[in-house]
Amino acid sequence: MNGPLWSFDKEDASANVSRPGDLREKFTRLFADRFLAGDSTGVLILDADFRIVEMSDMICQLFRSGRAEWFGRPAEEWFEEAGWTSHPFDRSLLRGRVFRNRSLKWGEGERRLTLMLDGDVLQEGGIGDIVGAFVLFRDVSHLVMLEEQIRRSDRLKTIGQIAAGTAHEIRNPLTSMRGFMQLLEKSLSDRDMVKEHGFVTIMLSELDRVNELVSEFLLLSKPKEVHLASMRAGAVLQEILPVICNEAIMYGVTVQYDPKPGLPAIWVDKEQLKQVFLNIAKNAIEAMSGGGTLIIREKYGQDKPGRLAVLIRDTGPGIPPDVRERIFDPFFTTKHQGTGLGLSICQRIVHDLGGHIEVASDAGGTCFTVWLPLSAT
Ligand SMILES: Nc1ncnc2c1ncn2[C@@H]1O[C@H](COP(=O)(O)OP(=O)(O)O)[C@@H](O)[C@H]1O
Ligand SMILES: [Mg+2]
Repeated sequence: MNGPLWSFDKEDASANVSRPGDLREKFTRLFADRFLAGDSTGVLILDADFRIVEMSDMICQLFRSGRAEWFGRPAEEWFEEAGWTSHPFDRSLLRGRVFRNRSLKWGEGERRLTLMLDGDVLQEGGIGDIVGAFVLFRDVSHLVMLEEQIRRSDRLKTIGQIAAGTAHEIRNPLTSMRGFMQLLEKSLSDRDMVKEHGFVTIMLSELDRVNELVSEFLLLSKPKEVHLASMRAGAVLQEILPVICNEAIMYGVTVQYDPKPGLPAIWVDKEQLKQVFLNIAKNAIEAMSGGGTLIIREKYGQDKPGRLAVLIRDTGPGIPPDVRERIFDPFFTTKHQGTGLGLSICQRIVHDLGGHIEVASDAGGTCFTVWLPLSAT
């Protein structure tokens, strides 16, 4: 037979932690200390006058607040100092208006965080008068990001399915239209019908644009066949460098690439990777319409083992923060003749290869970093 959970006899009556109450108190205190020191959840404890009684380490770090400085001061003062235009919660909490999952944005740009707040009251014995309140701050930024990624890849999948189903159907009539239009162009030019010839030329170039769009569309549907192999990123870059340089000349952009021999090989599909580098480089060149420098560099270090990066940096005007959040969205473009598909295709390819893309941008330019997995050997 099992013994009682807590034994209590004369001998251990003198011991510190023999009573269930004492034990519970000890462990609750240990738990509270640990919880307050943790960096995943922040805790703010308030007394019945809405004054700060405790501020956990996470909150102190996140909002750069000193615990001692705020002890005993009203929470509103803290809100003001932190620069919240509207207060995340107020004294109604002390009247029992508890809340769950109240979202709060904090910080700017890359460091912007999404926090979820839960507020509840403290009562003596859990039932008596409200003697204070506490608010839990959880950082859910990574979840929000994950959700965004899923939403985006779902959208891409749908577009891919539509693309696969319709792109060919669009392309076939386009091809025959283009053929007849070329015949028409020739006979109009033979008859010196300059104005009509001009119209047809415009129609032909518009047709080419539709064709280009459909081609990009097709790339969104599952790629034909992926041939993964071990290769040097430098070799792939060398192959597309002439194309990039050609494009750069048209925009008055200088291209800088210093090959780094001896870097480990990566495990990728060559054609897909070429497309990624080309798309990113093309965007970079297009961003420097007034001329500039395109710098391509490979990076390998111990800080990210098992990965190699290719950096594509421009000296363009940078990407404004509100645009920055949307550049990987399919069909998002700020260009007059853009398709908005380039970066969403890049992201899908790199993601499928097991890598990821980072973007850093300010008024001095933009840098896309493509992280790729190393091959096992
Ligand atoms: N290097 C860059 N500098 C500034 N803006 C950029 C850069 N790369 C991408 N962008 C922005 O991202 C948007 C989306 O790019 P992309 O998906 O390639 O579509 P598109 O090039 O057809 O517009 C661009 O319209 C542009 O606003
Ligand atoms: Mg583009």
